[in-house]
Amino acid sequence: MAKLALNGGEPVVRRTLGKPWPIFDEREEKALLEVLHSGAWNRRDKVDQVGEAFAAYQDATYGIPLANGTVALQCALKAAGVDAGDEVIVPALTFVATATSVVLVNAVPIMVDIDPLTYNISPAAIEAAITPRTRAIIPVHNGGYPADMDAIMEIADRRDLCVIEDCAHAHGSQWRGKGLGSIGHLGTFSFQIGKTLTCGEGGMVLTNDEALAENAARFANLNMRMTNLQAALLLCQLERFDAQVETRERNTAYLVKGMKAIKGIDPIPRDARVTRWCFYYWDFRYIPDEFDGIPRDRFLEALKAEGVPCGVGAHGQPIYREGPFADMAFFDQLGCARKGSLYDREIDYGKVYCPEAERVYAEEVCSFPHAMFLGERDDMDAILAAFRKLRENTDELKSK
Ligand SMILES: Cc1ncc(COP(=O)(O)O)c(C=O)c1O
Repeated sequence: MAKLALNGGEPVVRRTLGKPWPIFDEREEKALLEVLHSGAWNRRDKVDQVGEAFAAYQDATYGIPLANGTVALQCALKAAGVDAGDEVIVPALTFVATATSVVLVNAVPIMVDIDPLTYNISPAAIEAAITPRTRAIIPVHNGGYPADMDAIMEIADRRDLCVIEDCAHAHGSQWRGKGLGSIGHLGTFSFQIGKTLTCGEGGMVLTNDEALAENAARFANLNMRMTNLQAALLLCQLERFDAQVETRERNTAYLVKGMKAIKGIDPIPRDARVTRWCFYYWDFRYIPDEFDGIPRDRFLEALKAEGVPCGVGAHGQPIYREGPFADMAFFDQLGCARKGSLYDREIDYGKVYCPEAERVYAEEVCSFPHAMFLGERDDMDAILAAFRKLRENTDELKSK
């Protein structure tokens, strides 16, 4: 008789793991009603307060609250003076907004490969992609795991490039004790509903540089502003944040311990310079050769049937395959140049190929959402039980 739920057996888990997201109570209700009843919905007091509070939380001097994370990237690029025809180096493994924001300032995103150990932008690939047109690098701290900021800042200093950290996944994470977003020249955040710090939609630019902060604030004021209602919500969520991080840390530490005894699934090794790892999604590596040759997608299908849903990063394929870049009509619709006098070279993302990003998405990466780690230890025991069950029944995964 079949043991695996995929084949009609009893699933390991029959409840939702973790907690429903977002989390809120009367605190948020009260804060929102306060703004509502004030009638002055366009007042800036809470917006200013959350800008200061979150900048301080991430160790930055200035925080410019914005409507969302995409305009935060655009605002940072504008503030840094990135101009038409400039090249901006971005990782191939991210959400498209990292690169579409570059197009929206009429510059050219140059997509490069990732470091297979961390899934973050590869410093060697950055170095190889630099041309006389390169103006900036946007490292993304994928899932919240910090990119190698030592190597990236060393390259940027030597080649006189601006670094804009895309911290959309990395609220609270630290590199060598410093909050992400405060290490590059600018940092950007998203507070969209799925993020670990959220007000439904929202974003922020951080910087330690007064002139960059003034530039960013000028652009923000044009059409990118956060509202007092968003800010009121965000201030409440910030109060909850540390306790949620601690719960996730406790749960993942326990999971990692249990996973060590199961061949074929490896947590991402933690660099000693990652002094705080707050994650949006928690990646682990699936090694088919160590799992009796079962393909990753078959493993994920079986895991889901056991009641443990698991994804493949946030987006599933390198960004040059995503709509805006696979279909260059996007550039024309936006009225953005893609060839001719502005650029030295014609842009064709169909020719971009990043082997590590391709391989990792196709065969290796598995990701759990952060809210799955907001429950109790027995949720982790359930995940481990499902892993063990698949491990012990790979024969069932082979047949079919
Ligand atoms: C890496 C990355 N950058 C930027 C963004 C854009 O943020 P928003 O959705 O708030 O515009 C996201 C959104 O998920 C993201 O994942």
